[in-house]
Amino acid sequence: MGLLSTRVARARLTASAAATERVRELRAAGVDIVALTQGEPDFNTPDHIIEAAHRAMHAGQTHYTPVDGTPELKAAIVEKFRRENGIECRPENVSVGAGGKQVLYNALMSTIDAGDEVLIPAPSWIAYADLTQFAEGVPILLPTRPEDGFKLRAGDLDRAITPRSKWLMLNSPSNPSGAVYSEAEYRALAAVLERHPKLWIISDEIYERIRYDFVPCVSFAAVAPQLADRTLTVNGLSKSFAMTGWRLGYACGAVELIGAMRRMQGQSTLNPSSVSQAAGVAALTGPMDIVESRCAEFKTRRDFIVPRLSGIPGLRCTAPQGAFYVYVSCEDWLGRRTPEGRRLDSDADVTDYLLSQGIAVPSGEGYGLSPYFRVSFATSTGNLEEACRRIEAAAQRIM
Ligand SMILES: Cc1ncc(COP(=O)(O)O)c(C=O)c1O
Repeated sequence: MGLLSTRVARARLTASAAATERVRELRAAGVDIVALTQGEPDFNTPDHIIEAAHRAMHAGQTHYTPVDGTPELKAAIVEKFRRENGIECRPENVSVGAGGKQVLYNALMSTIDAGDEVLIPAPSWIAYADLTQFAEGVPILLPTRPEDGFKLRAGDLDRAITPRSKWLMLNSPSNPSGAVYSEAEYRALAAVLERHPKLWIISDEIYERIRYDFVPCVSFAAVAPQLADRTLTVNGLSKSFAMTGWRLGYACGAVELIGAMRRMQGQSTLNPSSVSQAAGVAALTGPMDIVESRCAEFKTRRDFIVPRLSGIPGLRCTAPQGAFYVYVSCEDWLGRRTPEGRRLDSDADVTDYLLSQGIAVPSGEGYGLSPYFRVSFATSTGNLEEACRRIEAAAQRIM
């Protein structure tokens, strides 16, 4: 009998962790790389949140808390859902974990049996498929089209549903496409979902505050209240408040589901950090002007990078409506040869080639829709400028 379980064999090293590791190795070897890989704001956490954490530590909030969140944080979350999302819930509908990822982990691990299907519009955040597989479920990728803004058509959803379908994953604004669903688009999906009472919905709204051009961001559970009792609305502090390192995410959903998620968390981390939770109260109840000014900074970067990338021969992209990523089509690069004579047959070949030219970007393969690569503009304009210069030069060499 070997040491390792069959379970751990299903826990893949995440593609983004592997890419980050590769960049670290190359840099350690002295290679100059501009990385557009980061899935987190490059800003620091706002001062008033840090100060609240500091005060909480001195006030003795350094102990265990209830497993899925302090009463103060749950109250702030209930109020946030009511005020900002039009979702009515109570503390017993709320679960707090160490990041949106743990919340999703709890939800899938406590509901999926071997062979259950999770419908994932592609491209999507890599973790949805990875977590599904880890929970012994089957990820079913539903490819979307650039002409639809990478949003799922109701007809495609309808055709994909089977008796084994357990969850539909929605994510708006989307990582990696930046797509933001409108109320009408959600209504069309809701009309299909109403006919399938066994299918549950996860609406991952973690990028909700990072939006451009005044596009409204609606919550699925508010648009389709008739489906609210089988919708888990997931959110977190990481992206809006530049708090990735604090590890704080939350969700609201049916009491039975929330209870199961608490049991799952009780067998792993117990509560999220007490200090992070105190900081979370300050974030959710405090001023929002800094969040808005940072969003304006992301918009400046988006408006810089999108025309530059679109102007590069063979690349195509449109301006994302939210989040801080551009999903770039490299279809027209396929079939071309690098100066060393290597043929570019896939988006992974394209990103390998770009890495050899000093630019790190993840390939579309990991997000379930090829041939694309993802560019994160959560980095300085100087880095973006240098990356564009290098991608332009790389394009010249294969034309
Ligand atoms: C779409 C999406 N949802 C959820 C998360 C989870 O973030 P965290 O675990 O930091 O809350 C991420 C992080 O990259 C994400 O891109």
